[in-house]
Parts: sequence; C-alpha cells; structure tokens
Amino acid sequence: MATVHPVPAEWAARAQITAEVYAEKYRAALETPETFWRAESARIDWIKPWTKLSQCSFDEASFGIEWFSDGTLNVSANCLDRHLAERGDVTAIIWEGDDASQQRRLTYRELHEEVCRMANALKALGAQRGDRVTIYMPMIPEAAVAMLACSRIGAIHSVVFGGFSPEALAGRIQDCDSNLVITADAGMRGGKLVPLKANVDEALLQCPGVGAVLVVQHVGNQVTVAAGRDHWWHEQRAAVLADCPYEEMGAEDPLFILYTSGSTGKPKGVLHTTGGYLTWAAMTHQYVFDYRPGEIYWCAADVGWVTGHSYVVYGPLANGATTVMFEGVPNYPTHSRFWEIVDRHKVEIFYGAPTALRALMREGDDWVKATSRQSLRLLGSVGEPINPEAWEWYWRVVGDGRCPIVDTYWQTETGACMMTPLPGAHALKPGAASFPMFGVVPQIVDGDGNVLPEEPGVAAEGNLCITQSWPGQMRTVWGDHERFFQTYFTTYRGKYFTGDGCKRDEDGYYWITGRVDDVINVSGHRMGTAEVESALVAHAKVAEAAVVGMPHEIKGQGIYAYVTLNAGEEPTDDMRKELVAWVRHEIGPIATPDVIHFAPALPKTRSGKIMRRILRKIAEGDVSNLGDTSTLADPSVVDSLLTSGR
Ligand code: PRX
Repeated sequence: MATVHPVPAEWAARAQITAEVYAEKYRAALETPETFWRAESARIDWIKPWTKLSQCSFDEASFGIEWFSDGTLNVSANCLDRHLAERGDVTAIIWEGDDASQQRRLTYRELHEEVCRMANALKALGAQRGDRVTIYMPMIPEAAVAMLACSRIGAIHSVVFGGFSPEALAGRIQDCDSNLVITADAGMRGGKLVPLKANVDEALLQCPGVGAVLVVQHVGNQVTVAAGRDHWWHEQRAAVLADCPYEEMGAEDPLFILYTSGSTGKPKGVLHTTGGYLTWAAMTHQYVFDYRPGEIYWCAADVGWVTGHSYVVYGPLANGATTVMFEGVPNYPTHSRFWEIVDRHKVEIFYGAPTALRALMREGDDWVKATSRQSLRLLGSVGEPINPEAWEWYWRVVGDGRCPIVDTYWQTETGACMMTPLPGAHALKPGAASFPMFGVVPQIVDGDGNVLPEEPGVAAEGNLCITQSWPGQMRTVWGDHERFFQTYFTTYRGKYFTGDGCKRDEDGYYWITGRVDDVINVSGHRMGTAEVESALVAHAKVAEAAVVGMPHEIKGQGIYAYVTLNAGEEPTDDMRKELVAWVRHEIGPIATPDVIHFAPALPKTRSGKIMRRILRKIAEGDVSNLGDTSTLADPSVVDSLLTSGR
C-alpha cells in the first residue's frame, strides 16, 4: 500500500481549488464548456473577443484542432503591457547567475522596455510577422526577452536548448527555415563556459538562409563577429526606440515551435498557437501552484524545454508573477545551491525535476538542512516519474513535511499540465500524477484499443489516451501535418495517444508508468532512441546500432547502445570513447551514451526487425528470462550478445 499524505487542514481552508471546487470545475469544463472557457479565457486580454469556442475532431475525415479561432490578442501584451498600470514596479524576473554574485531584477516596466527594444531590433534586422526566429540562449533574462519580442511582432520562435550541438542546432534551423538567430556570446553552467556563439557559427556553415544573428554579450569571452551578419544586442538596443506597438494576432496564429523527440525519425517541430496555449498555460499556472499575486515562484527548468516556456515565461508572466530564472546547476558551487536560492529570494513555490532531486538526495541531508527554506509553501515535480523514495525525501527534507508536492504530468505536445494532484483538493500519493486538469479526459486502453472501463474500486493498467481536445494542445508538426495525424491519432483511432503507459488505482488516481514507445527519458530530457541510432550509424566505422533505455539511479533512464562495427574494426576502449564523443558532437552532451555494447550482431526476426525486447532485458541486467527467441532469424545471436563486450 502506498503512503497517503492527507490534504493539510490549512491548505483545505485557504486553497483556491478545494475538493468541492475541483469536482465542480471538472464537471463544468465538460458539461458546459462554453461557459467554463468563457470565464477561464477572460484571464487573458483579448483585442477582439472570440465567439467560436472550438472546432476539434480527432477523426481522419474531419481532423482539425481550433480554439477561440475568431478571437485576437497579443501574447507579449498579455505578459507585459496590461500589468504596467497596476504592477509596473513589481519585479517580473529575478535572475541569478551561475556565479551567485551575479544578480539582476527586472520590473514589469523594465521588462516591457527590453522586449519593445528587442522587438524593434528584430524588425530592423528584417524580421516580419510569421518569420521563424531561432533562440539559442543561456538562462538569462534576455532569453525571455527574445521570446516575448518575437511574440510581440508575430514572429514564431523556436528555442533550441543550449546543450544541443551545432549539428543539432543546424537541423532545427533548417527544418523551420529560420532566417534569424538570437544567441549570446556564451553561457555559464557549473563554472564551465558553454560557447554558444561559436556553436552558432559552426551551425550556420550549413544554414545559408540565416541572414542575421543577434548576439547578447553575457560572459564577455572573445567571439567572432561576421560583418553584415552578426549584430551585438547592446549596440542594436541603443539604436532603437523603447516602445514598439504589438501585432494583433489571431488566436490560431502560431506562437512557437519547439522540437521534441519521437519514436521515429528526426525531432518534430511541435507547433503551439496563441490564444488556447496562453489560456492553458496561465490557467494551469494559477491552479496547479495555487498561485496568488505577489508570490515568488521558481521553476528551475531551462527555457530550452517546454517547461521553461510555459512555467518560467508565459504562464507566470501572464499572471503577473515574479518568476525566478537561474543560469546554473543544482550542485555548483555546492549541493546547497538550490536551497540557498530559495532562501535568498524568499521563494514560495519551487518546481523542479526528479533527476535533480535524486542527485541531491545522494549527497545527504546536511546540504539541505544548512538552509532555512521557511519561505517555501509548495513544491512541484515534472518531466519524468518521481520514484517514491525521492518523493518522500523531497517532502520530508526539502519541504520539512509542510509543503504539498504537485507531481505534474504533461508533454511538449500538451502545452502545459494535464494531470496533477491539486494541493488543497487531493490527498497526495507519492509518485501519482493523480487527477486530470479541467477539460482533460483521460482514457486507459489495452494494446488492442479496448477501453478499460472506469469502475469505482477497480484498478486498470494500459496505455494513456486523451479523448478530446484541450486549448493548449499542439496544432501540428511544423511542415508535416500528416506526420502529426499519423503520430498521435492513428494508434487508437479518434483519440490522442500520449505514448505513455498508465495505471488507475482503486481510488481513481492515475499513475504514469513511463513511455511505451521507443522514446526514453534521460534526466527528464526526452530522447528518441532512433535519433541516437542514426547518429551512431553516421559514424564511418559503425555498421549497425540499436539503442534502448536502461535503469539509471540518478538519470531515471540511461542510454544503452548496442553497436556492430564494420568488418575489420576493433571493439576497443578507444573506439568506445570515439563513439561517445561522436554522439555528443552529433546531438549534444544530453545524448551521451552510458553504455556502448559492442555486439557481433543484433537479434533480428526473419523479416529483419530488431527484437528490442531482448535488448532491453539485457540492458536491464535481467537475462534470466529473455522470453521466446524462436522467431529470431539466428537465435545464437543472443548468446553472442550475452558474452560480448560492454
Ligand atoms: O513520459 C512522460 C514524461 O515526460 C514525457 C514528456 O516529455 P517532454 O515532452 O519533454 O515534456 C516534459 C515536461 C512536461 C511524458 O510523455 N513525464 C513528464 N512529466 C511526468 C512524466 N512522467 C511521469 N510523471 C510526470 N510528472
């Protein structure tokens, strides 16, 4: 039996969403959606109010997703301009550098001016409504400024995480035909310099379409400036006006593209649009975190991921919050860093990833206990399943047993949170994503698509689908609408398939059991095994590769790569190092394989399909029962795998 932490009395008394309110709103969103969304979307300032709520169908013949489609608005005006009258002098962003002596605060008024100036600078560099702008930045306020500046002029941003290699960056620039890149000279992480501008220079050798690069001077390192192409932000900033009118955008105009990994092929450009996304991000930010104006809120994600988009920038700023941005890493200069930041800025709500918690937990409680953390009242977790041990540590040691934990389940595709316990409404079960957000209808299906019925007191386990659209749903894969439909709506006809396994327990709580496709979750970062495989086979000495996930104490999952070398190549340790370096070069450090297993051959069926089930078992170290191997073209391959080299 899992432990249950009841709703604390003070939370039930003061929370915005109590058990009764949750039930009422959940019902209202489904039974009277027009009224529900009229009220919820009123948290956004519309230039022209919408009259059409939604036109959504997951069926092939009528497929389409639209919310609030005839309404108009501007995202940056919602995140900035409308706060100026009442909250102009409230801090919008508290920034702390990798080096703690570097601190910045920007009020809403200051942020507004920065965004206007950058929007004007982008226009001066030729950016127009609908253009794609790639943002490759460290975690500094200018990353948020760049995103908001794009949304102000109606340009579509594509943020690429600073940990991706020049090769990966180039692929993303090419895929969406970006003609402008915003970057910084460099970033700092854990005392190490990340040479962002140099990476951009290398990437742009393959991207002739990029005509301008805007470079923020952050670290002050030496960088190359290509005449006519590269422009310093501080110079451009000084040359433009401090005000920039915002564009009136349609609710369904694109807001951003964010590349994410799937089970096959290259990363997909997930496209989010304007009105539905902002409503969804702002609504969930308020309810999930029980956020109230004036509170200091810190989401420790990087803006290179969707969590950074929705819960560092758009959700909090739409709600007029004070959002903390941190450039560095949890263990630098010491393992107390996160909690020192909490104390320094009096953070009330902290939202982070299980992988960081597991890494900190391993270092012992003293690093946490050396800090006060009295300001904290709510903790959040995101990105991967949180194991009960890490959950209990988070609760007991970080939160001193006072702070509820919201374990938020969602995806790049879903825009913002889909399932979570709400702190004043639901007793907490460690590791359970718990209950759906308003408007979200989960359904658990078996492998054949049969719906496992929802019966009180009866548990069910299978694959997680969502049966109807919600405002923050992605609208398409950039440049490939057919791939969007094929990827998400054909496994189970008429439903959105998440790719996740899920169980519902006797009390109706949902638990995410992990991906059921060929996607692995490494330190909360999504990685397609196919991507790592194609990086490996691009190496001249590799004949074949198959990649699977393996359990990893800190990262959740690690990357286990089976590699068959070309005839005549020696499987040496040096070759291993060469291949690891190669993958880092092709994708980036986040794709570093944990194990390279030199395999004389891979286990294949007679039709040539690799039997991943066997590879997963061996990677997990569970070789006692490899299951039926009789359908393999050559069953002796399994023995050779068991005796060959890791
Ligand atoms: O497998 C689920 C896992 O992360 C995947 C989505 O990854 P990404 O698009 O990168 O978005 C991460 C940030 C929202 C999901 O398919 N996942 C995310 N949150 C949780 C989770 N698994 C279990 N519990 C969670 N809270």
